[in-house]
Amino acid sequence: MSVCLRAATAADRTAVAALIHGSTNGWYTAQGRSPVFAGPPADCELFFDVYERLDPGCCLVAEDGGELVGSCFWHPRPTHVSLGIMNVAPEAFGRGIARRLLARICDEADRRGLPVRLVSSAQNLDSFSLYNGAGFAPIAVFQDVLVPVPEAGLPELPPESGRVRAAVAKDVPAMVELEREILGIDREQDFAQLVEGLGDVFSASVLPGDAGLEGFLVSSRAPASMMLGPGCARTERAAQALLATELDARFRGTSAIVLAPADRPALTAWLRAQRGRNVELHLMQVRGPAAPIRGVVLPTFLPESS
Ligand SMILES: CC(C)(COP(=O)(O)OP(=O)(O)OC[C@H]1O[C@@H](n2cnc3c(N)ncnc32)[C@H](O)[C@@H]1OP(=O)(O)O)[C@@H](O)C(=O)NCCC(=O)NCCS
Repeated sequence: MSVCLRAATAADRTAVAALIHGSTNGWYTAQGRSPVFAGPPADCELFFDVYERLDPGCCLVAEDGGELVGSCFWHPRPTHVSLGIMNVAPEAFGRGIARRLLARICDEADRRGLPVRLVSSAQNLDSFSLYNGAGFAPIAVFQDVLVPVPEAGLPELPPESGRVRAAVAKDVPAMVELEREILGIDREQDFAQLVEGLGDVFSASVLPGDAGLEGFLVSSRAPASMMLGPGCARTERAAQALLATELDARFRGTSAIVLAPADRPALTAWLRAQRGRNVELHLMQVRGPAAPIRGVVLPTFLPESS
């Protein structure tokens, strides 16, 4: 049977969620590690729902004899195209399905004359080789730190946390501007929707400074995504204040993942002081030109539009 690629429709929602769940958990458990998604496959409908809202029609699927065997989300932005969660069914690994999905998205970017960006595992060689073979090069290393938050909240908040406040719609232009300055990308449409919360999954906060923002941070709280990010900050202290405030406000009695830049020792020390443990390593990768990073970047897997 030959594999064909097509855009997903609303009718694919459950099957795409099952594919994300089975493929990701299948890969990790095959390595003797815990499944990433501890709950049922329906938890992963979150990805389809959030991405359909942000980028309608931008889920690409691979079908083989009526069965979905691959899926991938892409996010066209003014400065770049980014690639979201990529999955192939375990029984279809190694047949070139991911390479074809990736090539289709790279073609879309080439037509627009834009670089392609993504965050991929540094430990999963199938994934690393897929992207490296397609011309991607790492620009930054991130440690996935699992931070437990005590039921009573963090024992101590940095003094700057007192200046952190909830983001509102009128902060969006400053958030966009700060990310453009620090990471060189523009994704206004994401922040406009994330600040609204997308059904309470997301929360966003900002640290105002004398001239614009010192930083901003979004967090997602849902069974399939307990994460801090996306966020940007001018300094490590600003990043700590934002992380502390968001962790303390939203994740008491549970844990959340922070993708922390590996080249920021003060931030690493602070995360260790919170009893954070590294559980993975990820690479920010770009196919095409990328501006140097000029501050602290905290990416996430939802939305993977950085
Ligand atoms: C990563 C994943 C998407 C790859 O899917 P796939 O369809 O099996 O990949 P492909 O068959 O298209 O292979 C991709 C390329 O990587 C190459 N490759 C894989 N492992 C390699 C290795 N160790 N060294 C060199 N090249 C390697 C393959 O040869 C192929 O290149 P080619 O077609 O030019 O020969 C799949 O393993 C998966 O879904 N894993 C679980 C979820 C996941 O990790 N997703 C990625 C999130 S970052």
